[in-house]
Amino acid sequence: MLTAARNEMLTRVGPGTPMGELLRRYWQPIGGASELDANPIKPLRLMGEDLVLYRDHGGRYGLVDRHCPHRRADLSYGWVEETGIRCSYHGWLMDETGRCLEQPYEDTTSPKPSKAGCDIKAYPVKECAGLLFAYLGPLPAPELPVWEPFTWGNGFREIVLADVPCNWFQCQENSCDPVHFEWMHDNWGSRQRGEEKNAAPKHLKLKFEAFEHGFIYKRVREGQSDEDRYWTVGRVALWPNGFYLGSHFEWRVPVDDENTLNIAWFFVRVPKGREPYVQERVPTWISPLEDENGRFITSHIINQDIVAWAGQGRIADRTKENLRSSDIGITMMRQRYFEEMEAIAGGKEPAGIIRSANQAQCIELPNMTREINTDGITLAEFRTHPLLRLRLERFPFHYGQPAEVRRAFVAAMGIAGP
Ligand code: FES
Ligand SMILES: [Fe+2]
Repeated sequence: MLTAARNEMLTRVGPGTPMGELLRRYWQPIGGASELDANPIKPLRLMGEDLVLYRDHGGRYGLVDRHCPHRRADLSYGWVEETGIRCSYHGWLMDETGRCLEQPYEDTTSPKPSKAGCDIKAYPVKECAGLLFAYLGPLPAPELPVWEPFTWGNGFREIVLADVPCNWFQCQENSCDPVHFEWMHDNWGSRQRGEEKNAAPKHLKLKFEAFEHGFIYKRVREGQSDEDRYWTVGRVALWPNGFYLGSHFEWRVPVDDENTLNIAWFFVRVPKGREPYVQERVPTWISPLEDENGRFITSHIINQDIVAWAGQGRIADRTKENLRSSDIGITMMRQRYFEEMEAIAGGKEPAGIIRSANQAQCIELPNMTREINTDGITLAEFRTHPLLRLRLERFPFHYGQPAEVRRAFVAAMGIAGP
């Protein structure tokens, strides 16, 4: 249980709030580069700030204030040029550094046009593995961490976005909560299939360990032993707002205090014998969350998670909770956020920031399934693998995978479609 004041500290993300300042120290994934192929401009709200993301014809990414510095028209209705984004109201042109480059009427009529004071708020953007990352913190920006899976070849990757109607922190707490797998995904999954028993293997013991890039949770369930990789390796609640499961990442990026962009990046290595496989473009798609009755869709893994997150309320009231031993990871995480917020208030750099380009190049995280992704397995092995078998049949994580993404996956894997 937390006091209301401590809960506010964990959940408020606007500029100047302690958590807002903490999260702004890290590169945040904000979308897929392929999203901008059809339309190079996308309005975006991040941590309570209204912004516009764009890619100009020169290939530069910009993330700038949504409002024009002239008289505040909406730049998401502008257009991009060779360099920068132009406002459709009076034609002012801004670049990715926030400089105002042109003010057409002044430039035409004034003998000495001055653009002093007309800069716009702008944040750096980088592309990696098909994802776009933004940095909203104080400069100089740290290195963008290139997690090891971003360097893997011969795989089919996709990016899925979901607009989750609740605060980011309850989403992130779910990244360090192993017991929910047994109930939310296993038992609830079988109940939805009409089964009448809670037959999922029970969790028998849990362990949580802190490391530089987050927390590792380990578990033993009925039918497993201490030799199992779920216990010897575990899974990662990735600091500060991610989750890493060996072949995919999820991040909970605050849109504002009451909304979260869940952004996930998935990798499946093509079966042995189908290499080399080069994916031209990493597709990005949006998962719908509600059915025609306005109820949450519950058939897919992350859709199920979202039922839990949003069900806790727009901002979970942690003064009313009752933590137990299954929640040790949650308590550890909260403690670390408080410590890191204090570090920043004391003028220190928080944990997990990388300043060395060398170190940022390929960062390994604990991974239970590394060889499957780096060495590969045959299609026959896919078909008998307890988890990957299902992955061949359908995309199990998010509802709504577009048919063209499924077709591209089927073609990459060399299996029969759809
Ligand atoms: S408001 Fe943008 S150019 Fe005038
Ligand atoms: Fe889950």
